[in-house]
Parts: sequence; structure tokens; C-alpha cells
Amino acid sequence: MLNKIYKEISQTLKDDFEARLIIEERTSYELSDIIINPDAIISDAQYSNILSDVEQRIAGKPLSRIYGQREFWGLEFQISEDTLDPRPDTELIIELALKHFPKDKPLRILDLGTGSGCILISLLSEFGESIGYGVDLSFGAVKMAQLNAAKNNVNNRASFICGSWVDAISGKFDLIVSNPPYISNQIIPTLSKEVRNHDPILSLDGGVDGLEPYKIIFPKLKNLLHDGGIALFEIGYDQEKDIMRLAEESRFMQRCVHLDLAGNPRVVDISSGDK
Ligand SMILES: C[S@@+](CC[C@H](N)C(=O)[O-])C[C@H]1O[C@@H](n2cnc3c(N)ncnc32)[C@H](O)[C@@H]1O
Repeated sequence: MLNKIYKEISQTLKDDFEARLIIEERTSYELSDIIINPDAIISDAQYSNILSDVEQRIAGKPLSRIYGQREFWGLEFQISEDTLDPRPDTELIIELALKHFPKDKPLRILDLGTGSGCILISLLSEFGESIGYGVDLSFGAVKMAQLNAAKNNVNNRASFICGSWVDAISGKFDLIVSNPPYISNQIIPTLSKEVRNHDPILSLDGGVDGLEPYKIIFPKLKNLLHDGGIALFEIGYDQEKDIMRLAEESRFMQRCVHLDLAGNPRVVDISSGDK
């Protein structure tokens, strides 16, 4: 029975991985049970939950939205209608920070547009001596980030602020990170229904050209970075030239543009050295 239902889901969704996730979420079985124990019983209640998940999935709701959680950097994050569903490409920011700073360095970290808190919380889980501040305009996102910080045991080193970008921020930071909304608002209606209908518009809309947040943040960044500090910003795959220009206009040195696994520009790495 278990194997039959797994195959049913997998064929309907044309996705073995998601079929496995649904089985794991709705029953106590794991992937190995599907092979070792193919006739294991699935109760009527479990089957009815599975069918409901499959229906919602066909209608375009991502599994992470159905279950309200997402894994990022090996940690569990709760998500809601107020938060972006964290994307694996964003993990590049954590990798780059780990290449730049030793783990035991006590950093002051600022995360602009924190959403679920996934970037800041992952950084604090790696940099055990560091403290961090996460800012978001959405009160719902800030509440979710606070909850996720507690869930991942970094709440004693994380503070969250509801406000616009750096308006309420003072002091200096060693590391400033951000995955701001960077989709042009003309493009948003053409996005997949998974994104368009389920990620909050505030987390996507980067204004007419998708560059609005960078234009607001970059000129204010210099005063917030310690000497030797760096800023890591996620960007859209086609924004490299524009972002370089904006960084130069704010007298930032661009250290590098880093590519994601698909080979697209994904994160700019800028420092406050004078040009
Ligand atoms: C692309 S999402 C990134 C969320 C999270 N950091 C992540 O990577 O999954 C951008 C975030 O910026 C927030 N945001 C939008 N406008 C903002 C503003 N003016 N000030 C602060 N945060 C803002 C959104 O609410 C959203 O949570």
C-alpha cells in the first residue's frame, strides 16, 4: 500500500522528491520504508491528508507553504504569508561570509529585509560569538524571524526591528547582508503561480527597474560599515552591471560578483574602501 500510494503521488506530481516529502510529512514512514516495507499500511486519515496536499500542490501551492516550513542552511524555518519562502541560492551569502571571517570572530551583523530571518539566523548559528540585527518593514515577518531565532537557539544574540531599511539603525557593523526585493514590478505578473500567488508582494517588488532597494540602501551603507567590513547583497541574474554602477556611485569597491550553481551572478560582495 505504501509503495502504491508513493507511486501514485509521484506520477501525479511528476516529482519523486516531492512524493517522498509528502509521505514523510503525513506518515511516520521514510524513503527506506517504501523499498523495505512496500505494503505498509497508510490509514484513511493519512491518505486523506495526502490527497489534500496533492490537490493543493497541483493548484500551485508549494509544499513549503502547505506545511509552513522550509529548510535553509540545514536549519528549520517556519514561514507564513508574511515571509518569502527562503531559496537555496541565498545560502551563497552564508558560504561567502564563512570564507571571509573566522567562525570565532565576534561580529556585529546587520540583515536588511530579514523575512523569516533565515540569513541572519544561519549566520549566528555559524558565528557563535556574534550578535545580529534583522530589519523588516513587515511586522508579520519580524514576528516570524523572532520565533525562528528562538527555535534555532540564537534568540539571545538576535534582535529584530520593524522599520524601513536602515532608517532605525545606528552604529557600525562588520557584516551587512541583504536579499532585498529585486523583481521589476512589470515582471511580477509573469512569474510562476508558485511565486506570484504565495510569496508576499513586499518580498518581490523592487520597483520599476527592480533596483529601488539598492538605490535607497547603498548611499547609506558606508556610515554603517566598520573598516574591513563587507556587505553581501543578493542580486537578480541580470542586474550585475546596474548594481556595480550603483555601488561605484556610492563609492564602494566591488570585491567580487559570485555566481550561483546555475552560473548566474547572484551575490555582490562590496567593501567600503574609497575608490
Ligand atoms: C526577498 S525577501 C528576503 C527575505 C529573507 N531575507 C530571505 O532571504 O528569505 C525581501 C524582504 O525585504 C522586506 N522589505 C521590503 N521592503 C522593505 C523595506 N523598505 N525595509 C525593510 N524591509 C523591507 C520584505 O518584507 C521581505 O521580507
